[in-house]
Amino acid sequence: MPKFYITTPIYYPSGDPHIGHCYTTVACDSIARYKRMQGYDVMFLTGTDEHGQKIEDKARDKGVTPQQYVDEVVATFKKLWSYMNISYDRYIRTTDDYHVESVQKIFKELYDKGYIYKGEYTGKYCTPCESFWTESQLDADGCCPECHRPVKEASEEAYFFKMSPFADRIEKLLTETDYLRPKTRATELVNNFIKPGLEDLCVSRTSFTWGIPVTFDPKHVVYVWVDALSNYCTALGYKNNKYNDYDKYWPADVHMVAKDIMRFHAIIWPAILMALDEPLPKHLAVHGWITFQNKNGEAQKMSKSLGNVVDPFMLGERYGVDAIRYHILREMALGADSAFSNEIMINRINSDLANGFGNLVSRTVAMADKYFGGTLPETRLEGDFDQSLKDCLLSVREKVDKCIDETRLKNALEEIFVAVDRANKYIDETEPWVLGKDESKYDRLASVLYNLLESIRIISTLLSAFMPTTMPEVWEQIGANADICTYENAGKFGVLPANVTVHKGRILFPRIDMDKEIGELNAIIEKNMAEAKAKLNADEAAETFTPAPLAEQVTIDDFAKVELRVAEVKACEKVKKSKKLLCLQLDDGFGGRQVVSGIAQWYKPEDLIGKKVIIVANLKPVTLCGVESNGMICAADAPDGSARVVFPDQTLPNGSKIR
Ligand code: MSP
Repeated sequence: MPKFYITTPIYYPSGDPHIGHCYTTVACDSIARYKRMQGYDVMFLTGTDEHGQKIEDKARDKGVTPQQYVDEVVATFKKLWSYMNISYDRYIRTTDDYHVESVQKIFKELYDKGYIYKGEYTGKYCTPCESFWTESQLDADGCCPECHRPVKEASEEAYFFKMSPFADRIEKLLTETDYLRPKTRATELVNNFIKPGLEDLCVSRTSFTWGIPVTFDPKHVVYVWVDALSNYCTALGYKNNKYNDYDKYWPADVHMVAKDIMRFHAIIWPAILMALDEPLPKHLAVHGWITFQNKNGEAQKMSKSLGNVVDPFMLGERYGVDAIRYHILREMALGADSAFSNEIMINRINSDLANGFGNLVSRTVAMADKYFGGTLPETRLEGDFDQSLKDCLLSVREKVDKCIDETRLKNALEEIFVAVDRANKYIDETEPWVLGKDESKYDRLASVLYNLLESIRIISTLLSAFMPTTMPEVWEQIGANADICTYENAGKFGVLPANVTVHKGRILFPRIDMDKEIGELNAIIEKNMAEAKAKLNADEAAETFTPAPLAEQVTIDDFAKVELRVAEVKACEKVKKSKKLLCLQLDDGFGGRQVVSGIAQWYKPEDLIGKKVIIVANLKPVTLCGVESNGMICAADAPDGSARVVFPDQTLPNGSKIR
């Protein structure tokens, strides 16, 4: 049996996955399914890239261990892949023991062979971020690109990987073979990285610990990209005993990645494999990003901090997973970006799936039902347009094969939809509803409907690699099944039995009401963007915050004069005639009191009821806007100019004294 090995990048579990992450995975899944259908023994690998400083930092921020942190996010990724119907054969986590063992052996082998050596890493160091940056990574002011604070020249001991011995072979790989797809990208790689002289790569770090330790120098951890790239081999059992598939599947047929990580896969990965004396993967397919098209028609990178990330679960719930899979695959041409907008998505689903394919199926099945009670008679009468329909349908499979072999999925779908259009045109040409009015024409009508059912069989078989949930439903409707809808039969016409019975079913791709949906989707995205902006503003304000100068010193006796007590908010309402004041009824442990506080701009009464607060209990009463206030609620000045109430431990009894 021929073998086929395809991989996605392994994802950073540094936040919730979004529609951009889905692209590569859905694309690889469709290719894997197609190849399985063709009879290949397929290995489809995906996974997660779980080491590095970023993960260590995120875990610290959340107050959990890095392992706990990655376990949680990995579960979300796996949930998404199961939701998107991703048929991966193996899932690798770089925290898996067998992978760790293999990476350590790879590092040691490269060291023993003299390709890795110890040196000094010199660069711009940001102390608060504990990170080295190169000159070109610094921000416009020459400061740290993450925290924008000044950096200093520093050096640390590190291991380096010699890249220069491989420069010529890599250049040839990129320019003289069909490794890179699209090949047009080779020029930028050669001009930017190879021609100026391939620099040795720093492959170890000592500034954090969440990584794979170098066995012979354990204060160093292996650089995340060496760790991550190796996954493509270690997942097959390379230098470990967990699996035994390396000889069977390596070299990979296709690594698919997005453009931002092309350099690692086009230069560094081949160099590592060359140093290890291992065969090189056959193809590297590089696609663009799914960008978010904003209201002004501008393309933005999807990012959590802009609030423009599109949630695949939300889209799947609304329109069905297959419609989303189809949309992202159909929009992205290999090598170019593809702009995501709600309008483009809805138009695409309506035109291709609801009106195009869905309509073809529902019209054909409905007519077979109406004129023949669901079962076609065996009598036939061939006529005009039949041959041209068959010619078109019989040529599709080969065209799709070629597109799949060249990782051009958008074109594969376009080819299939040429056939959908041809079949719909055949309905217009043969006018079965006219034939249906005259019983003497029923032989012809039966032929027309049979030809349409056969067309749908071929189309749905080919589409099943891209839309695996819906196509079995189509088969049920046209009286077919998975045994009939095979790759082999997709190259033949006349496979369904002559007296086939159809089964009317649900509308497979309901037409989407553009106006209604756009309103709702835009409201969701605007809310996300507003929340992200507010968070960004708060973060920025916190970063530049300088505390007010300290006041003159007081003695402990002075402080003791101020009575701070815990009290509980029992009731709260706005003070009439005032925009700023709230009137709170407190249980202060001494029978209760009323306090007026100038926090109405930032708190609604319901935000405070039931909460414990700290009050200045021995303040002389005052009257504010005609309402008496007996004390003061303690609040802090926030960097954005608001006042934030200081909430004590909720378990403290009312009246507890603060000292
Ligand atoms: N961990 C590395 C890959 C190591 S592979 C040995 C990584 N992870 S990532 O999670 O940040 O990104 C994984 C892939 O998703 C990358 O190819 C990245 O470009 C891709 N995408 C992230 N956002 C995307 C879009 N908006 N559109 C398309 N692909 C996107 O990089």
